[in-house]
Amino acid sequence: MGLEGRVALVTGANRSIGKSLSLALARRGASVAVHFHSKSDDANAVVEEIRSAGGAAFAFRADVSNRGEVEEMIIRCREDLGPVDILVNNARQLVKGRSFIELNWEDDYAPHVEVMLKGTFNCCQAAIPAMIERGSGRIINILSTALGEKRARTNSYGSIKSALLYFSQTLAVEMGPHGITVNMVSPGLTTTERPILHSGGYQREYIDQTPVGRMGVPEDVAEAVMFFCGEETSFITGVNMAVSGGKVMF
Ligand SMILES: NC(=O)c1ccc[n+]([C@@H]2O[C@H](COP(=O)([O-])OP(=O)(O)OC[C@H]3O[C@@H](n4cnc5c(N)ncnc54)[C@H](OP(=O)(O)O)[C@@H]3O)[C@@H](O)[C@H]2O)c1
Repeated sequence: MGLEGRVALVTGANRSIGKSLSLALARRGASVAVHFHSKSDDANAVVEEIRSAGGAAFAFRADVSNRGEVEEMIIRCREDLGPVDILVNNARQLVKGRSFIELNWEDDYAPHVEVMLKGTFNCCQAAIPAMIERGSGRIINILSTALGEKRARTNSYGSIKSALLYFSQTLAVEMGPHGITVNMVSPGLTTTERPILHSGGYQREYIDQTPVGRMGVPEDVAEAVMFFCGEETSFITGVNMAVSGGKVMF
């Protein structure tokens, strides 16, 4: 599957899973808008890696919860690379899980609502009009196997990811007639360059319960996202694909 001539915007692309998504898109020939929120050095390093391999990339900063900043990012992306063909909503603000009784709205729910839900809403609304104009587009929203696991201490994170499932599927219904597919990829516990918030005991137990016998790596998630990006999968929409080594099956 080649993505030559396509422009892909990945939110939260400066590190971890988003970085891997950017590199995978670039390897397939897409020009990549590497979005970041606060860490411009990381984003510039991803851009440099793509360019030194012969690809095209620019870094764009935005707080995805801020509608004006997102609209500005989409405009600058169009000027520098072209209109967005592929949008991957991956950004999140990391919040440690708490038991329900310890939760408070401002610290635990609001960041998820603002960055994951409102951020995805903002990016979709800003990018979709140009996709409709061209009669094609690919949107992939990153969810989580937390939806299937229903673990304690995931009430805030899982609730917002659940909202994104409904958001994505109803958007898929509305966008189908425009040639735009909307799919979801749900990673299980995935090792990234930042420390995992869960304890070693938790990680061992998680691996024990995973048929494939390991945690995920960002490249596992990237491969699943690539599946939804090409022309070949134009008849697949509204699907939530688990990348969990078989631990969760939707
Ligand atoms: N890692 C896992 O085990 C795992 C498992 C299941 C699902 N997921 C999902 O996979 C996705 C990526 O997770 P990850 O662990 O790779 O992410 P991560 O390392 O926590 O990185 C989060 C990204 O979001 C950006 N961000 C934070 N606040 C933002 C804001 N207000 N506006 C715009 N961007 C903002 C960060 O940018 P800066 O660095 O510039 O601040 C960073 O690039 C998330 O949707 C997550 O829920 C991850």
